[in-house]
Amino acid sequence: MKLLARLKSTLLLVVVACIISTSAHSNGLSGLYALVKRRMPSHSNAFIFNLSTSISSDVDTFKIRDASHDEGAGNAKIYIECTTISACARGLYTYVTEFGGVDIWWTGSRLDQLPHQLPTVQEPVTRSAIVPYRYFFNTVTFDYTAAFYTFDDWSLLLDWLALRGVNLPLAWVGYEYILVEVFREAGLTDAEIADFLSGPAFQAWNRFGNIQGSWSGDLPTQWVNDQFALQKQIIPRMVELGMTPVLPSFTGFVPRALHNLYPNASIVNGSQWVGFSSTYTNVSFLEPFDPLFAILQKSFIDKQVAAYGNVSHIYTLDQYNENDPYSGDPAYLRNVTSATFASLRAADPEAIWLMQGWLFFSGQTFWTTERVQAYLGGIPGNDSMIILDLYSEAQPQWERLSSYYGKKWVWCELHDFGGSMGFEGNFVNVTAEPLRALTSPGSSMVGMGLTPEGLEGNEIIYDVLLDQAWSPTAINRTSYVSSWVSRRYYISDLPSSAINAWEILGATVYSNRDPSSQSTVKSILELAPALSGLVNRTGPPLPTLVFYDTNTTIVPALQMLIQAGYESKSLLNIPEFKYDLVDVTRQLLANRFITLYETLVATYTSSSSSSATITAAGQPLLQLMHDLDELLLTNDYFLLANWISAARSLSHGNASYAAFLEYNARNQITLWGPTGEINDYASKQWGGLVGTYYVPRWTAFVEYLVGTKANGTAYNATTVANAMLMIGEQWDTQTWGQTVNWETVGDSWSMVQALATKYT
Ligand SMILES: *[C@@H]1O[C@H](CO)[C@@H](O)[C@H](O)[C@H]1NC(C)=O
Ligand SMILES: *[C@@H]1O[C@H](CO)[C@@H](O)[C@H](O)[C@H]1NC(C)=O
Ligand SMILES: *[C@@H]1O[C@H](CO)[C@@H](O)[C@H](O)[C@H]1NC(C)=O
Ligand SMILES: *[C@@H]1O[C@H](CO)[C@@H](O)[C@H](O)[C@H]1NC(C)=O
Ligand SMILES: *[C@@H]1O[C@H](CO)[C@@H](O)[C@H](O)[C@H]1NC(C)=O
Ligand SMILES: *[C@@H]1O[C@H](CO)[C@@H](O)[C@H](O)[C@H]1NC(C)=O
Ligand SMILES: *[C@@H]1O[C@H](CO)[C@@H](O)[C@H](O)[C@H]1NC(C)=O
Ligand SMILES: *[C@@H]1O[C@H](CO)[C@@H](O)[C@H](O)[C@H]1NC(C)=O
Ligand SMILES: *[C@@H]1O[C@H](CO)[C@@H](O)[C@H](O)[C@H]1NC(C)=O
Ligand SMILES: *[C@@H]1O[C@H](CO)[C@@H](O)[C@H](O)[C@H]1NC(C)=O
Ligand SMILES: *[C@@H]1O[C@H](CO)[C@@H](O)[C@H](O)[C@H]1NC(C)=O
Ligand SMILES: *[C@@H]1O[C@H](CO)[C@@H](O)[C@H](O)[C@H]1NC(C)=O
Repeated sequence: MKLLARLKSTLLLVVVACIISTSAHSNGLSGLYALVKRRMPSHSNAFIFNLSTSISSDVDTFKIRDASHDEGAGNAKIYIECTTISACARGLYTYVTEFGGVDIWWTGSRLDQLPHQLPTVQEPVTRSAIVPYRYFFNTVTFDYTAAFYTFDDWSLLLDWLALRGVNLPLAWVGYEYILVEVFREAGLTDAEIADFLSGPAFQAWNRFGNIQGSWSGDLPTQWVNDQFALQKQIIPRMVELGMTPVLPSFTGFVPRALHNLYPNASIVNGSQWVGFSSTYTNVSFLEPFDPLFAILQKSFIDKQVAAYGNVSHIYTLDQYNENDPYSGDPAYLRNVTSATFASLRAADPEAIWLMQGWLFFSGQTFWTTERVQAYLGGIPGNDSMIILDLYSEAQPQWERLSSYYGKKWVWCELHDFGGSMGFEGNFVNVTAEPLRALTSPGSSMVGMGLTPEGLEGNEIIYDVLLDQAWSPTAINRTSYVSSWVSRRYYISDLPSSAINAWEILGATVYSNRDPSSQSTVKSILELAPALSGLVNRTGPPLPTLVFYDTNTTIVPALQMLIQAGYESKSLLNIPEFKYDLVDVTRQLLANRFITLYETLVATYTSSSSSSATITAAGQPLLQLMHDLDELLLTNDYFLLANWISAARSLSHGNASYAAFLEYNARNQITLWGPTGEINDYASKQWGGLVGTYYVPRWTAFVEYLVGTKANGTAYNATTVANAMLMIGEQWDTQTWGQTVNWETVGDSWSMVQALATKYT
């Protein structure tokens, strides 16, 4: 009952939120009718939406009821009444999932499988969100996942978001177009601006002020223009689906040459980011208390409003993400924020500043409570700012920072680093913890959100957080898994073995209580081979420690999925079922690789080893990678070719531009930087990548071990690392052109069965 009391006090905040809320709701409900037409064309007249004043609730609320007896309802069967567009979208989602038994996934919309005869709603269903904001995106998701998205890709993802009730998405696409205009206006030449902008797969870190410039040739104007055109489609779509886009603003990061134009302006260098040389990092930062800052801010926001309209007053602005301030003096920090905020308000009198709170965790030695208090204290009142508590499921900062001293904040699940694919989830923390945060004394939490770096599998652990945002009690895992699987596979005679498989995963890999591995577990086969340092790494960000016993989790889950496939052949036509079969088998092989690697190392280091024993120990490891590659190539969702072709397809048929895009796509998932600065951070288990990159690296490694044994020379870690870097540099500059077969090869079902037998 503490929760109810807490919810009541949230209402106060909600009232404030409504007052400051944006004009996003002026479009009415046409966006939802369009969504129904898009995803369920055969039911395009089946729903009536009504933004109703008859529901008295200060939180987003919907009510679903039967419409078939309504006068004048025509063919409509389902009536959804709501307080906001987003609530109506969530109402529609509740109907299609809980009554219709289908869902929309990252792998595609299955809403067209809604039964022809729509199930009736016997008793009206009324539900409310427990928080005013449901947030989505990390700044870096725009690169790890969406760098090469077309509007069709955006359309699917935005429908996924809207239906789940997200009303506050980040909207970074096309940022550079407006920024370039601002810089030109300030007097910078295009060449000077080009020195600053980063490549298509790396813009997020330029936006963060971590990096500057592009190590593969300048960012083409074509890219800047195309992304701007894309944003002009994305923004109205977000708005018509009831979302308030969080828009960019001027951050202060500027080309080096600005200093020459404005020699008296306060411009300082940011800190060095990871291993990058100062050509690419130490980004120039125009200090916000310099008068030029406010001028550029006003110019930026005016241009943005002119481009997209008055669609939002919420601005994303991160100045010190993995980038330490010029000074740690609390008075300086307070100065920075008060001037930054003043610049926003001068440009938009209703501006609200949203920031990612990652720095308060990653840089917590710098960000003492005194400094955080000073930094936040520069912003007046408690309603002018929204902080994303970015990694709440494992490293929440809201307690250490006393609920951000009264500023509003959002409980966020980060979970995924670099678009890593390993199974992991902490079901208890993503269900019970947001409720605890919401009801804790003095809490200023106003939202729940997802801030994964990339969207690569583990979808269940994201779904549940957004579902929790509409449930005042903690979601029960057992019943959740069962209904989630039922709608994921949507066949009428779903074998219980399919649900049992997921029960096992839910109770183990998705109930991870090990604090040292709270994020997607990276497989060592994706890492540059080395004799030590690969196994049992803890995180964040990229643990390699497998926190569960594969034999009692992945193995039986896979066997049960296979059994389900035997029991119901129709399952084999369900794309998500095939995806899961491949994904679980992928995880099995990834985990088995560790044992083979440890055997190889043990063989090499044993006194009785010979070239022959090392070759023999390397053979099954290389074979496993070939098997894995063959498996992944059977499924469209696990193809390197899709990533590369998506990049190349934005080239307008210009061969050198296509090669530039391909280099960006390749470099991000491999070396991440001109010379492996963040090597393998965003690696993937994709068909084609395993075969053409990881296999050659491990082959070279085994050959090297054999060679040192034959020559009687010592293992040299630097030699190995340099050899791996060379393989990476060669791989990154390859181009596939038009000659590669972009399609899948082989049959998932038979591969999965064969590999399950071989590796269990
Ligand atoms: C919408 O709800 C209002 C009451 O809030 C009602 O007057 C109106 O008729 C409804 N519209 C439709 C299309 O049902
Ligand atoms: C910079 O400041 C110096 C000293 O105050 C002044 O002489 C000079 O005119 C200023 N330069 C510009 C470009 O404003
Ligand atoms: C920033 O870095 C550049 C390039 O290394 C250097 O030339 C410049 O002096 C630095 N500026 C400051 C203010 O330290
Ligand atoms: C870059 O930042 C680092 C601190 O992270 C500093 O030591 C170095 O001097 C900076 N370099 C430049 C050119 O500003
Ligand atoms: C945005 O709102 C401002 C202030 O209300 C108004 O002056 C301006 O014309 C609007 N701009 C657009 C593009 O709608
Ligand atoms: C704060 O900013 C003002 C100018 O707005 C400046 O005079 C003052 O020195 C700054 N204080 C610190 C500690 O940076
Ligand atoms: C779950 O959340 C709690 C409370 O924030 C935190 O102390 C704990 O470390 C989290 N669990 C894990 C395994 O990270
Ligand atoms: C902001 O919240 C803090 C903590 O609850 C409170 O002490 C402070 O008075 C609030 N400030 C305003 C302006 O309401
Ligand atoms: C979920 O609810 C069922 C039935 O009440 C209960 O047996 C089970 O323990 C609960 N599961 C979890 C993980 O709490
Ligand atoms: C990794 O951890 C597992 C489980 O704790 C242990 O059995 C294994 O020996 C460790 N391997 C290495 C290389 O540390
Ligand atoms: C897991 O199963 C494999 C294959 O049957 C076996 O070799 C291994 O010893 C088992 N590992 C554990 C920890 O039980
Ligand atoms: C072993 O010696 C041969 C012949 O000198 C040389 O080519 C090769 O690179 C050496 N291999 C290793 C791993 O040192």
